Amino acid sequence: MAFPNALVSSDVRITGDVSRLVLADGVSIFGPSVIVLLDGGGLSGSRLEVGEGTFIGEFANLRTAGAPITIGARCLLGQGVTIVGTNHGTRLGTPIVDQEWVGSGVEIGDDVWIASNSIIVAGARIASGAVIAANSVVRGEVPENAIMAGSPARQVGERRPG
Ligand SMILES: CC(C)(COP(=O)(O)OP(=O)(O)OC[C@H]1O[C@@H](n2cnc3c(N)ncnc32)[C@H](O)[C@@H]1OP(=O)(O)O)[C@@H](O)C(=O)NCCC(=O)NCCS
Repeated sequence: MAFPNALVSSDVRITGDVSRLVLADGVSIFGPSVIVLLDGGGLSGSRLEVGEGTFIGEFANLRTAGAPITIGARCLLGQGVTIVGTNHGTRLGTPIVDQEWVGSGVEIGDDVWIASNSIIVAGARIASGAVIAANSVVRGEVPENAIMAGSPARQVGERRPG
């Protein structure tokens, strides 16, 4: 592994072009987990970047699917978190499996906590400091320091100093 200052459990399965993976110092990824860096569906922008000191828990399912996923520094991803960079096309008249993939990846800021079993879908932009409650499905923009919950995730609170 090209990241001597990152901890990646031996049961993290990485599929695809490993040169598209960038792990900063102090990143920890626990397994069993999967990281899929494969292009396809007409897209070729697969890339996963994880910032300094970020922890990714067991059963993570991180799939670039042709687009970039960036996760900032000092984030916490609980167990069973899925992040997918694109969607299948869903136009009627062509089987979904034959359609192009669509989507612009996922961006996650610094100091974000994504609790267990949450799913972050293509196009999500989660600003720094946000909290995603367990079992949430996150799409679109999440404001800084917002506490989000549900499917689709809605803002249920805000982090406060203390
Ligand atoms: C996000 C979290 C920290 C919020 O805790 P909290 O600040 O004590 O919030 P509350 O329990 O007061 O809930 C605030 C509101 O959000 C809702 N809410 C909280 N978590 C929710 C969830 N997972 N799904 C749906 N709604 C949720 C509550 O129902 C409540 O709504 P209401 O105001 O209408 O009653 C907590 O709910 C959570 O998900 N923890 C994750 C635990 C976990 O997965 N740990 C392991 C991984 S590190």
